[in-house]
Amino acid sequence: MTLQRIVEILRNGQPDESVTIKGWVRTKRELKDFAFVEVNDGSSLASLQVVLNPDIPGYADAVKRLNTGASVEVAGVLVASPAKGQRIELKAESVKVYGEADPQTYPLQKKRHSFEFLREIGHLRSRTNTLSAVFRVRNACAYAIHKFFQEKGFLWVHTPIISASDCEGAGEMFTVTRFNLQDVPQTDSKKVDYSKDFFGKQSYLTVSGQLEAEVMAMAFSNVYTFGPTFRAENSNTSRHLAEFWMIEPEMAFCDLQGDMDLAEEFLKYIFKYVLETCPEDMEFFNQRIDNSVLATADNIINNQFERLSYSDAIALLEKADKQFEYPVNWGLDLQSEHERYLAEEVFEKPVILTDYPVEIKAFYMRLNEDAKTVAAMDILAPKIGEIIGGSQREERLDVLERRIEAQGLDKADYWWYLDLRRYGTVPHAGFGLGFERLVQFMTGMGNIRDVIPFPRAPLTVEF
Ligand code: 4AD
Ligand code: MG
Repeated sequence: MTLQRIVEILRNGQPDESVTIKGWVRTKRELKDFAFVEVNDGSSLASLQVVLNPDIPGYADAVKRLNTGASVEVAGVLVASPAKGQRIELKAESVKVYGEADPQTYPLQKKRHSFEFLREIGHLRSRTNTLSAVFRVRNACAYAIHKFFQEKGFLWVHTPIISASDCEGAGEMFTVTRFNLQDVPQTDSKKVDYSKDFFGKQSYLTVSGQLEAEVMAMAFSNVYTFGPTFRAENSNTSRHLAEFWMIEPEMAFCDLQGDMDLAEEFLKYIFKYVLETCPEDMEFFNQRIDNSVLATADNIINNQFERLSYSDAIALLEKADKQFEYPVNWGLDLQSEHERYLAEEVFEKPVILTDYPVEIKAFYMRLNEDAKTVAAMDILAPKIGEIIGGSQREERLDVLERRIEAQGLDKADYWWYLDLRRYGTVPHAGFGLGFERLVQFMTGMGNIRDVIPFPRAPLTVEF
């Protein structure tokens, strides 16, 4: 039985039940006549206190071997605990030690470890309270995302990881290289043109599934992607990863207004779901990581997001009584300090900025009537900055062709994308949510590397 299930039983009533649990020892306390071990199996924040009495078979040997980190199976009876603050404990009737953990070398101790230290032992850090709470919340977010879209009839589409197009046009891609180990001794690596190495074609790890999602939306109307994406920007920040997960809904017959409405409803839904399903974990983050976590969740669920244009935001920033590191000027992209100022200090809630200058946004965004701005929207969150980026897409063939050319891209590469405008084009829109930024926002975790089990960022690839 998992500890989560035991927590549920406790919520609904009565102990005095025979159970078998399996997990890893968090702590051991030996007294004269008996011993306590706390066992955790990752299903819940709470560890279960196990009481070992000398009359159980193999008592002395088990107590000796059950150090922090050891794996164990305990069968026994749940009983009300006499200890203060502890409602229940497991009175062991039999114990099986699976694997020991040498206390001299096991790196996790009862004290609090720094996140920097835990990143060095990425293979063990999920056994700590904080990281396990993060990954349970991450799982709940992923489930809520699928639930949200599936309930609305969106089709989950699987877009490729190997791609020939640079969706964002930012040139921040990893290239794919074919590497046949058998060829190595005969090959002079300098003579191999790795740039065309996907069987004669240049290819990359995808930066976004959007263009392919548009293909699918032109057949199924409402679709979404949920998969890994890659950015080769060398951003050594607490909000960037080289490999991150993105959720990208794409809706046919939809404009920017509909896009924003969906994004806001979507974020509210996920927060609500996680608060309902992971209350202990969320309470833990609020107490131990950031004491505004629960207030933020409440704010997201119950308040309307602020919506304003990029131009109005620039006017606000220019008037701001604050020194920014980067300049503010109509036409320049916003830096995260500007985004955070708007979300944290001016509006104190998420802000949806719309209608950005055409020069700073991707080629696929729909050109507005003023021919200076595009129907883009970014959602800026307190403490995080940009969490969602989206737009209405350019559905007019001639305008799109001009935009592709203006950005110095080759129209021939986008023939299939342009075909979508040739055959049955419709207004359509979508957005991309950075999954790790969402988990960071929700949990209050300071560094994005601590909300993904195996972070890929400069200097982090250990295994
Ligand atoms: O704003 P971005 O680049 O938008 C797109 O890729 C569009 N194709 C999305 C769409 O309209 N379908 O990225 C979307 C989101 C950002 O708002 C941010 O949350 C996240 O992806 N993101 C990153 N997260 C972690 N590390 C990085 N290096 C990220 N780059 C973007
Ligand atoms: Mg963006």
